[in-house]
Amino acid sequence: MKPYWTDGDRTIYCGDALEILPHLSGVDLVVTDPPYNLGKDYGPEVDDSRPPEDYWIWFGTVFKAIFEIMDVGYLYTSHSDKGVYLAKPLLETLGFDYIQTLIWWGRNGYSMQLSRHSWSFRHESILFMQKGVPRDLEVGEPGMRYTSVIEVPRPQSNFPEGRYHPTQKPVGLYKAILQRTPGDLLVDPFMGVGTSLRAAAAVGKRAIGIDKRREYCEIAVQLLQGKLPKRMSQLVMALSTEVEE
Ligand SMILES: C[S@@+](CC[C@H](N)C(=O)[O-])C[C@H]1O[C@@H](n2cnc3c(N)ncnc32)[C@H](O)[C@@H]1O
Repeated sequence: MKPYWTDGDRTIYCGDALEILPHLSGVDLVVTDPPYNLGKDYGPEVDDSRPPEDYWIWFGTVFKAIFEIMDVGYLYTSHSDKGVYLAKPLLETLGFDYIQTLIWWGRNGYSMQLSRHSWSFRHESILFMQKGVPRDLEVGEPGMRYTSVIEVPRPQSNFPEGRYHPTQKPVGLYKAILQRTPGDLLVDPFMGVGTSLRAAAAVGKRAIGIDKRREYCEIAVQLLQGKLPKRMSQLVMALSTEVEE
């Protein structure tokens, strides 16, 4: 199976997670952020508005494939507010053991519109689970606080790390998670623009990322190489000219 790009320690596959995952092995850490089925626009390759039953069958199939390529290790997966309540029992049925729910508080960049029917969202939940009994988490220096609420600002276009993806996570969030979680080979089957891979690079872990959309794979490569990618519209045009040539 030919990767889209690799530098030896970080590898990107551009394609469907379900087709690529069965070819991987030796994975002992999964950090991911799947599509939540909330109607986001991830390009023509992805339908993020499926009938809920279809979506959850698909979700179960993907995480079964993830479970099968892991020997022992930790899983972190975010989901929507309601989604975590459906994802947790499903992941337990597959064989993952639930440890805890972490909260990512993004602080800025949220809608200021106040709904009349609910409280305005300011956080996302991340399910923390394990397969088997992995090595302990790092306890860190005395006084270092590893808490279940991780506060890292949401990426915005004027941030040094830039914003290239509609649901991009901040590198700092994944760095906070990765620096205390053991695991030599991380896989993110829904890497978007490769945030988890950049965090893995920062803490010296090997990582494999997968995304279905070629533009995201290309942006991920450029960000990993320390370049500032073109805007999405320019990239779509550049890549489609390449295909036509
Ligand atoms: C929530 S986003 C991840 C964003 C990522 N955490 C980041 O910081 O850039 C989910 C990603 O999954 C990708 N995706 C959706 N279905 C996929 C599939 N079947 N196989 C691989 N990638 C898929 C989408 O293109 C999208 O980029």
